[in-house]
Amino acid sequence: MKKKKIKVKIIIIVLIIILLLGVIVFLLSNRKESFKESITINIGDKIPKSNDYFTKDIKVKIKWASIDNYKVNTYKGTMSYKNKDYNIKLIVKDVNPPKIEGVKDITITVGDKVDFYKDIKISDDSKDELDKKVEGKYNLKKPNTYKLKYIVKDKSNTTTKDFKLIVKKKEEVKKEKTTNNTTSSSNKTSSKGYKVEKRNGLYYVNGILIANKTYPLPSNYNPGGLLEVFTTNFNKMKNDAKRDGINLWIRSGFRSYSYQQTLYNNYAARDGKAAADTYSARPGHSEHQTGLAADINSLDQSFANTKEGKWLNNNCYKYGFIIRYTRNGQGETGYIFEPWHIRYLGTDLAKTLYNNGNWITLENYLGITSRY
Ligand code: DAL
Ligand code: ZN
Repeated sequence: MKKKKIKVKIIIIVLIIILLLGVIVFLLSNRKESFKESITINIGDKIPKSNDYFTKDIKVKIKWASIDNYKVNTYKGTMSYKNKDYNIKLIVKDVNPPKIEGVKDITITVGDKVDFYKDIKISDDSKDELDKKVEGKYNLKKPNTYKLKYIVKDKSNTTTKDFKLIVKKKEEVKKEKTTNNTTSSSNKTSSKGYKVEKRNGLYYVNGILIANKTYPLPSNYNPGGLLEVFTTNFNKMKNDAKRDGINLWIRSGFRSYSYQQTLYNNYAARDGKAAADTYSARPGHSEHQTGLAADINSLDQSFANTKEGKWLNNNCYKYGFIIRYTRNGQGETGYIFEPWHIRYLGTDLAKTLYNNGNWITLENYLGITSRY
């Protein structure tokens, strides 16, 4: 008897389980036929079709307002089925962060430009514009090792990579000395004790190339244009000036011996030699022939009172330039005030000559003359 009762109980339990399973299957299959308003995909995944929204084989065309499965966004669409309009959504998410490859420490020399993005590769699976930056403090003018990081963001994720920027010291202006196989050398010293030497026909005082009324350049000396050290630092200065709303441009850069000859002769013919000598160098005596000097913006002394002239006067030393012919320096330089004429000397010496705004002439500093 007892056994029979147990059997009946088991049968009842089994029937209940079957019934429950039936209910679950019924509910699930009913759900399968339901309509989903929204689908989420990862960036680059296939755009869903109508049957993905209905989960049964309904093939109708979806009208998307706009759609790009490579851009993070929520897209809206509509479709009609059995005379009914359905509003649907597609959410495109980006789960993969951007990649930064090829990160290495960067070593430069003081005053050099740095392009942080030159050797690295940034990629992402989205077509969205990436937000890239280098975080951390550094000073390209100060030798040091700076710990920095790249930060790249897409709309949903951020990737960071650490690296070091090593700014090395350089021997200012010594570059000028590179190609000197000394052919003749007169071991004199200036009135301030600096070595005056002539190498390959060029005069150097304390290693600095000089072109003035006393120290000429050979007529065949032609570096071919402004030297790279000039242009690099000028461009840096120009860009920084631009940020301050100041437009700097080179009005006259390198001038060959023969070009200077024509220029000087024209001035001498117009104003007489004595007058021309106060503002124009005779051929072979112009700093423009060194490739290390240029005239900026204007050739009028009123330039000193313009915002550009003031900016140049107050900032050029930071980029290694000096105002070569100072306001009261005619007795030393041999030329009237030229607020537009800059000469590259490197930041150390330029800063010394800037003298907190009270410019010292190169002649005075080195203890040399400028006289024909
Ligand atoms: N104006 C300067 C002195 C030159 O002619 O080189
Ligand atoms: Zn000039």
